[in-house]
Amino acid sequence: MKSNNDTPIVILNFKTYLESTGKSALKLANALQKVANETGINMMAAPQHMDIYPVANNVDIPVLTQHIDPIESGGHTGSVLLECAYSAGAQGSLINHSEKRMKLADIDYLVKRTADIGMFNVLCTNNIETSIAAASLNPDFIAVEPPELIGSGIPVSQAEPEVVERTVEEVKRINPQTKVLCGAGISTGDDMKAALELGSEGVLLASGIIMAQNPEKALIDLISKI
Ligand code: G3P
Repeated sequence: MKSNNDTPIVILNFKTYLESTGKSALKLANALQKVANETGINMMAAPQHMDIYPVANNVDIPVLTQHIDPIESGGHTGSVLLECAYSAGAQGSLINHSEKRMKLADIDYLVKRTADIGMFNVLCTNNIETSIAAASLNPDFIAVEPPELIGSGIPVSQAEPEVVERTVEEVKRINPQTKVLCGAGISTGDDMKAALELGSEGVLLASGIIMAQNPEKALIDLISKI
């Protein structure tokens, strides 16, 4: 089995599409598992919270939660507790996704708490400057995603290559252990190839695979040029 650190990495964020919810989440996770087994590429799934348990029980690939709330156990109705995500089978967590932004102090808290409990963290950033700030928090991964390209079908690796390249450069200068991923608009083999050529160690993506007619085929295409 792959370690969480083997690169290149493909993390599929299931977001809240119906096409990646419930039974469809299981189907998508199985497609990731199958392509990971057949190609040896490190594939990970980030389903919605209520799908973590069934997905994690059906696949061997790492499962991430899309968000955790910066709370301790106790009276926080409706919140997502780190320990709950962990016991449901999440091995890692996205933190501060552009669609779920957080305060700096809460991000810092969650980077530390995930590490304490033995989960890996993927800290999302929106540009070079926030990536520089994020690097000082010592996350396992930084995933840079220009918000305006998210869900656009226009790949960051081709539309804003300098954002990826400079994020890698700056993050590695501050914290060489932190791995850099990029995302937004990534869907094809050319997009992924360009992302890796810019120095990123993988991609965080969603709609290009989830909304594809055949997600398994789309995943194979995604990694076909690396
Ligand atoms: O977390 C992945 C993401 O925000 C990119 O979304 O749909 O542009 O691949 P998408």
